[in-house]
Formats: sequence, C-alpha cells, structure tokens
Amino acid sequence: MTAGGTAGGATPGFARGRRLRSTPAMRRWTAQTRLSPADFVLPVFVKQDIADPVPISSMPGVVQHTLDSLRKAAAEAAEAGISGLMLFGIPAEKDAVGSQADAADGIVNVALQQLRADLGDELVLMADLCLCEYTDHGHCGVLTPAGVVDNDPTLDRYTAVAIAQAQAGAHVIAPSGMMDGQVAAIRAGLDSTAFTETPILAYAAKYASGFYGPFREAAEGAPQFGDRSTYQMDPPNADEALREVAQDLAEGADAVMVKPALPYLDIVARVADAVDVPVSAYQVSGEYAMIEAAAANGWIDRQRAILETLTGIRRAGAGSVLTYWAVEAARWLR
Ligand code: PBG
Repeated sequence: MTAGGTAGGATPGFARGRRLRSTPAMRRWTAQTRLSPADFVLPVFVKQDIADPVPISSMPGVVQHTLDSLRKAAAEAAEAGISGLMLFGIPAEKDAVGSQADAADGIVNVALQQLRADLGDELVLMADLCLCEYTDHGHCGVLTPAGVVDNDPTLDRYTAVAIAQAQAGAHVIAPSGMMDGQVAAIRAGLDSTAFTETPILAYAAKYASGFYGPFREAAEGAPQFGDRSTYQMDPPNADEALREVAQDLAEGADAVMVKPALPYLDIVARVADAVDVPVSAYQVSGEYAMIEAAAANGWIDRQRAILETLTGIRRAGAGSVLTYWAVEAARWLR
C-alpha cells in the first residue's frame, strides 16, 4: 500500500478527516475557533486595609489585591492585551445592608476611580454588582426579619450601588445577585442620573454552583446560613436559562453572561444561538482550582488543559470569557 492510501478502510476518493490534520500549519489553517487576548476579561479582588496582597490558598496564583498591587496588575493586563477587568471589593467592615458597596470611599469605588484615572478607556472596567461581599450575613441581598432574601428592597440597594459604581468610573455594570427585576431597576437608576450610556452586562444565567467554593475564600462572601438556591438557578434547568436571558434583555441588558462555564456549555451554546447581543461565559473559581490542583500534582498538562477549556468555551459560542488565567493565557497567545 502506498503512503496516503486506503489504510483504515476509508473509501478512496472520499474526503478524509486526517488529510487536513497532518501538520501544525495545516491544523492552524483549518482551525474553526481561534483564541486571542481580546477574548478575555480578568476578575480581580481588591481588599480594604491590607498592607500586602493576600494569596488565596484555594486559587494558587490569585490574590486579594491592595489598591497599589491592583493598579500594577491592571497595567499588566492592559499590556497583555486583554479586554477588561471585573472588579470585586472586600470591605473592612460589613453590615446587614452592605453599606460599603455604594459608599463613595468604599474600597471598590476607590479602586474604580484610581484605575479609571490610570488607564482611561484602555481596558473595559466592569464592576460586579452584588451585596454578598459587603453584608455581614453573606447573602446577595437584604433580608426579611425571617432571614429570607427580600427581593424588592434589595433592588433599591442595587440601584444605589450601580450609580455609585458608575460615578466612580465603571464602564460596565454587571449585576450578579440574581434578584428578579434587577436589570430594570439598575437601568432606571442609571438613566435617571448621568449614566444613560453605561451598559449593563447581566449575569443572566447564573447557577447555584459548587464551583464557587474558592471564590468565597477570595471574596469573603460565604453565606453565614443557608445557601443561594432560592435565587440562583437550579443546575438541572436549561429552558429556564433562556427565560432568564430573555427577561434580562427585555429589562434592558446590553450583554449577557452564563456562569459557570464548563459544566454549562450547553447553556452557553443555546444562549449564543438565541440572542444577538454579546455573550460572556465565566470560568469560575472552582474550574480554575480543579486544573491548578491537577497540574500541581502532575496529573495534567496545565497549559494544554487551560487552552483547551478556553477554546471549548469559545467554541460553544461565548464571545468573551471571564477567566482567572486571562493575562497568562493572553501572553501565551501573543
Ligand atoms: C457574587 C459572585 C459569586 C461569584 C461571582 N460573583 C459567588 C456566588 O454567587 O456565590 C463566583 C465567581 C467564582 O467562583 O469565580 N454573587
């Protein structure tokens, strides 16, 4: 038999998959999904009143930043060519209503001011809008006397936080609390102030996930009782994600997100098919921790696994990926 003959039993004269896989150049030519630095957004944590960055043990390589170390990391992110940052603040003092989320001198708002002053419009500065990092009970909203998250009073808090974040310099407001009506409330608040041009990236399909575990160490926002299953989505449900997305778009969302990413690629694909706005997917802390832990044990090729997951998320239809590897992956791709 001659080279390139009919080994494997393929019928001569028919297209064969292997013809187009024979060299790296051939595979590059035929790649249907490509990654580039602009695909990525880096989530960052900034903590009030710390002298040095604090490593997060369950997320090797990720830290809680000081204001100064955040500014340095942001400059590096811009240099690496990623699209933006998603900011999370950790205040020194927490209370029942999360007052520090909208305090003008609250940590996340100070960080936004400084980053905007440093970077102007070079990166898209996204502000995660939630109360769980700011409340002493760790839930994403304010509570009724019975200890249940109270939807509508929470919307008033979210509106105040959105305005404070926009005032501080956020380019994008990203509500992640999964309250009903949160996008409409925030849009109305932004429109009634000077921020009609500030877009909303809705965490539209956010599941109650076991993969948020390490984040709760990073953001110090673990619920002190109960869990988030009454407001975040139930993992078995898919059609509901489309309903949540449609609802957020009807309320005025400019872009939508699916979260987590890897266990929900079917949702990413369905949402991407259904909408004509930008779709993001959030590769969350537990997805990061799994690969880091396996790689640290020598059980997996770290870079290869990371790039494969990022490719998979993009292939499923996400235009943009929030990932803790954003800067490192961007550097690999240059
Ligand atoms: C806050 C919020 C969470 C994450 C992003 N925003 C945690 C949660 O909902 O419990 C998780 C991100 C991650 O795990 O990387 N509502």
